[in-house]
Amino acid sequence: MEQIVVTGGRALGGSVQVCGAKNAVLKHLVAMLLAPGEHRLDNVPGIADVDIMCRVLEHIGASARRDGSRLTVHIPDDLRPEAPIELVRKMRASILVLGALLARAGEARVALPGGDDFGSRPIDMHLDGLEALGATFELRHGVLHAAAPGGLRGTEVTLEFPSVGATENVLFGAVMAQGTTVISNAAREPEIADLAAALSSMGARIDGAGTSTMQIHGVGEMAPMDHRVVPDRLEAGTYLIAGAITGGEVTVERCVPSHLRMELRKLEEAGCEIETGDDWVRLAGPERPQAVGFSTLPYPGFHTDMHPQMVALLSVAEGTSVITENIYEARFRYVGELNRLGADVTLEGQHVLIRGVEALSGCPVDACDIRAGAAMVLAGLRAEGYTEVANANHIDRGYQRFVPNLEALGADIRRETVEA
Ligand code: EPU
Repeated sequence: MEQIVVTGGRALGGSVQVCGAKNAVLKHLVAMLLAPGEHRLDNVPGIADVDIMCRVLEHIGASARRDGSRLTVHIPDDLRPEAPIELVRKMRASILVLGALLARAGEARVALPGGDDFGSRPIDMHLDGLEALGATFELRHGVLHAAAPGGLRGTEVTLEFPSVGATENVLFGAVMAQGTTVISNAAREPEIADLAAALSSMGARIDGAGTSTMQIHGVGEMAPMDHRVVPDRLEAGTYLIAGAITGGEVTVERCVPSHLRMELRKLEEAGCEIETGDDWVRLAGPERPQAVGFSTLPYPGFHTDMHPQMVALLSVAEGTSVITENIYEARFRYVGELNRLGADVTLEGQHVLIRGVEALSGCPVDACDIRAGAAMVLAGLRAEGYTEVANANHIDRGYQRFVPNLEALGADIRRETVEA
């Protein structure tokens, strides 16, 4: 078992550069299935989820080669249109191959992901959208068998909620469908705009990406992509909170500050001083943050994937903060872990009440998921004494070089392998 050991109390200082966004690159890899040939992707992060998505593509028949942050993927003419349960279980995003395989091969067999640590997380909107485009689905022995006997046809799809994954699956189905598809109430995340840019580099015709109404004019054929992945706003935001929670001064480079508008606003309200440039953000943290309230919402609202890190910061704030989680029904396993460190956090349904304490004290905690794991490390940076964060492999799913980057910023931190 991998664990991260942090000794708290040092103010961080210096600069860190962020990588390409996990939640963009995984979709770019799926998009490649739409065209045979050699695809090129730059600014690809070295994270575990990229390796898993490459394994999904390899199962389908592709081969991938990495050279630093460049990934070259060969997509063959004939595909094996399936994603098996071993891989879907490892990473839910595997279900995104559904739309792409239907578009390219006219069929797909994808194991159903089931629930996870964030609650039941259904895929009803993915299926409704693809059904509107002409797909049929049958569930047999836990595997969804999808077909598009008459091909996919453009239509109007109105999403009940601006789901990121449903928008993407419908987009994959629509780019080569006959005619025009309009997605209303589409997700507006920067990663969706970046996916549309990658698809456009392949020959897709998409209007309105990054807004809530997308128009996709189906094209007969697509060509391989050549694209650079948008910077990871969650990685950027996590390092900024590392600066904030330690009362340090951290500059995050190679990011897009406007993608973090709401998060930066809340950090300012908490007492941080923030300066931004074209592709950098500098944050100076206060000695002790102020309490702030926020609700997680789809972009451009406060990102749910910054919620645990922000609660870690607010756990040592002056005053009481109330935040509301609107995206996931069950993103709260980290609360018990944070309280072990001495925080005073309680739950009331979807509301989190954080009574700021003066100090945290280090102890063994668990990284329940990617962001919760990052939040535990951040809390450890502030806590007195040692904090051991178990199951650090969760953090590897979304952060490249997390420990070396924090060490370079001055943290007393190391990673070790221990017997489980
Ligand atoms: N939902 C449904 N039905 C659907 C689809 C979604 O009820 O058909 C619900 C989900 O259960 C959830 C909410 O809608 O409660 C939002 O889900 P969404 O589809 O927007 O999220 P996702 O595509 O499954 C992506 C990111 C998540 C991120 C969310 C929200 C990837 C691979 N994952 O998930 O990232 O939290 O969008 O922004 O892009 C992470 O990076 O740590 C992570 C969990």
